[in-house]
Amino acid sequence: MMASSSVSSILDGIAAAGRSFGENEAGSREALIEYSRSLVAALEIPSEFIQRTRYVSQHSYCCGRQAFPAPERSGWRRASALSEKAGVDVALLERLTRHLVAMYLITYHDGAFHATTLSNGLAEENYQHSISFCYDAARPSFNGFPEFFKKTQYRSPSLGSLEGPFQDAHKTQLPFFEWLVATLLHLQHFDSFMSAYRAGKANWYDPGFYPVSERMISGFDGSSSDVLLVDVGGGRGHDVAAFAAQHVSRMGRIILQDREPVIADVLASGKERLFEAQVHDFFTPQPIKGARAYSLHSILHD
Ligand SMILES: C[S@@+](CC[C@H](N)C(=O)[O-])C[C@H]1O[C@@H](n2cnc3c(N)ncnc32)[C@H](O)[C@@H]1O
Repeated sequence: MMASSSVSSILDGIAAAGRSFGENEAGSREALIEYSRSLVAALEIPSEFIQRTRYVSQHSYCCGRQAFPAPERSGWRRASALSEKAGVDVALLERLTRHLVAMYLITYHDGAFHATTLSNGLAEENYQHSISFCYDAARPSFNGFPEFFKKTQYRSPSLGSLEGPFQDAHKTQLPFFEWLVATLLHLQHFDSFMSAYRAGKANWYDPGFYPVSERMISGFDGSSSDVLLVDVGGGRGHDVAAFAAQHVSRMGRIILQDREPVIADVLASGKERLFEAQVHDFFTPQPIKGARAYSLHSILHD
C-alpha cells in the first residue's frame, strides 16, 4: 500500500517535471533524473538491485572499455566489423555488448549495434580516462572499506592521515596527489576526470548564474592588481579557459594555479591559451595578492 502510494506520488512528480522539461526550465532535467531514480528504487526488488549494481555496472565498465575502440563509437556497426576493429572474438564481443544494450548505453536493431548520444559522449577521451580513474584508482578504496574499517575498529581516519583506505587499497604510504605523480597513467586519467566530472553543467560564470560583468568586470581597477581571476587548484584550466572565452573583452590577467606536474602538462600541450599557468602549492601563501577574484572550486576538501 505504502509502496504504491509513493509510486503514484513519484509519477505525479515525473509528470510535473516532464512539463517543466518541455518548457526548458532550469533544473527540470535534473529533477526528472532524480524522480526516475526514486521510481526505480521504489519498484526494484533486492535481487534486481544486486544485479544492477554489482553485476551490470561492472560489465558495462569492461564492455565499454574493451568492446568499442573510441573512434568507432559513432554510427552503427555489425558485430563482425566491430570484432575485427576491436580485436575481440566476435562471440565474446556479442556477449559483452548485450550488457551495454541492457544498460541502454547502445541499441541493437536490424542486425547491428547503434551508438547513442550517451555512448558517443562516453567515447570521448576525457570520459574514457574518467572511467579508468574511477574504476582503477578510486574503486579499490571503496571495495576495501568493509575490511579496512573492520581492521581499524570503525574509527574515522584522522585528518591528513596516511593510513587511510586509499593507502591500504593501493599498498602505498603516499598521499593521494603524490601517488598520482608516482603513477603517471593515473595522473593523466585523474586530470582528464577533473576536466570532465561536471562538464555540460552550468558554470558559475554563465549568463544568469553570477553577474560577472556587473560585479567582476566593471569596476576592475588594474592599478591595485592587474589580475582579474586566479583559479586556485584549477586542474588543467577547464574553468578558466571557458571563463576567458566567454569574457573576451574583459581587462586583467587570468591565472591558473595547480601542482607542478599538472602545470607542466598544460604547458607541454602547446595549445593556445587565454590564461597564464603558474605552479602554486595551495598549502603555501598565495603569491598573487589583491586580484579581483579567486576561485576555489572543489578544492577545499583537499
Ligand atoms: C578536485 S580537483 C578540482 C579541479 C578544479 N578546481 C575543478 O573544480 O574542476 C582538485 C585540484 O586541486 C589540485 N591540487 C591538489 N593539491 C594541491 C596543492 N597542494 N596545491 C595546488 N593544487 C593542488 C589537484 O591537482 C586538482 O587539480
